[in-house]
Amino acid sequence: MNRKEFILKSCGACLGATAISGLLSSCSATRFTTGRLTKDGLLIDAKEFETNEKEKYRLYIIVRNEELLFPVCVYRFSETDYSALWMQCAHQGAELNVAGDYLQCPAHGSEYNNRGHVTNGPADRDLRTFPVIVNNHQLFIDLRKV
Ligand code: FES
Repeated sequence: MNRKEFILKSCGACLGATAISGLLSSCSATRFTTGRLTKDGLLIDAKEFETNEKEKYRLYIIVRNEELLFPVCVYRFSETDYSALWMQCAHQGAELNVAGDYLQCPAHGSEYNNRGHVTNGPADRDLRTFPVIVNNHQLFIDLRKV
């Protein structure tokens, strides 16, 4: 291998490592939990939103439970204010991706804000949302309307 080949291969490996590292860091930024499914909904410990930094909280967590057809994205606005969004697009039912404070559909590009309101079509209605009751550092997401 000559010097030029070495540099090209090395840089390719570096770029690959950088890309993988970026993916891993973005994956590690998203918190997933199964929650605990009860007869009427999901229970989540509010500590799921805590980070290693004091007084810093995750913007959202994703509850992915094999008993549910779609995940639920839970946004934290304050200690007592959360939203719980069913991650199924209101257009044709694709599973949504979370991109910070909004959700985006990979199928046709619809977007929803962190309260579940559609902000960009083709979807023409909001996401399903669920009441979140905070009690003693536990969140209860009422799924009875699924
Ligand atoms: S299924 Fe989501 S925009 Fe079409």
